[in-house]
Amino acid sequence: MIIAVQGYAAEGVSALLQFVYLYHYIGNSKGGTNMKKNLGKQPAVFPMPVLMVASYDENGTVQVMNAAWGMICGMDKIALFIDEDHATTKAIRKTGAFTVSIADREHMDVADYYGIATGNRMPDKFARSGYHAEKSAHVNAPIITEFPLVMECELAEITETANLHAVVGTIVNVSAEETILSDNGKVDPLKLNALIFDQFQSGYYVASEKVGKAWNAGKDLMKAANEKE
Ligand SMILES: Cc1cc2nc3c(=O)[nH]c(=O)nc-3n(C[C@H](O)[C@H](O)[C@H](O)COP(=O)(O)O)c2cc1C
Repeated sequence: MIIAVQGYAAEGVSALLQFVYLYHYIGNSKGGTNMKKNLGKQPAVFPMPVLMVASYDENGTVQVMNAAWGMICGMDKIALFIDEDHATTKAIRKTGAFTVSIADREHMDVADYYGIATGNRMPDKFARSGYHAEKSAHVNAPIITEFPLVMECELAEITETANLHAVVGTIVNVSAEETILSDNGKVDPLKLNALIFDQFQSGYYVASEKVGKAWNAGKDLMKAANEKE
């Protein structure tokens, strides 16, 4: 909250107002941050990925789109919440296969273009981007060579209910450029430099720091909690 108070000062609000604000804050806080403002319905979480979903259409032309609504949903499964009318979705239905590349900082402009242009009106949308593709050795889908990390997927199912249209893929293989790998052979997120999508304000970000280890950062608290039993 100190930041907020400083912000007010910077905008020239009087010291008295700052005091009133601080008084109000202290009066309302009961150990947590309960100064939340209602924002109404916001269809956003942060971070969101920037996924490049690609498939061949019935003419063998590469169709590709930008998708932020996607997530791992099983040990070998990825779910994409993509509109059934997109040229890429129609191509996936046709061939039963697709690839999902993770877009990185270096390729942001083209990644965004894939989210603006549509193959429905511009069938050679991919060719016009100037990027290159080769057929996956594992599935009947194109790998866009410029992106450093790609999942090669077979279509597992398309689920349509009143609330969702989900394209679920079985991940058959993942291929990555050497440059984004750690010494242990795994993907290094700091080398990947993946784009992160912010749906609150339509921004692209990158992560620049590892701040902890998962299943580890809470270990001391877990130990203490167990001891309270
Ligand atoms: C940052 C960003 C994220 C997007 N995420 C999704 C998404 O998750 N699902 C979706 O259906 N469309 C999404 N879109 C919109 C499609 O990428 C866009 O409609 C595109 O033109 C579809 O291409 P296509 O018709 O050639 O397949 C996104 C667009 C942008 C710019």
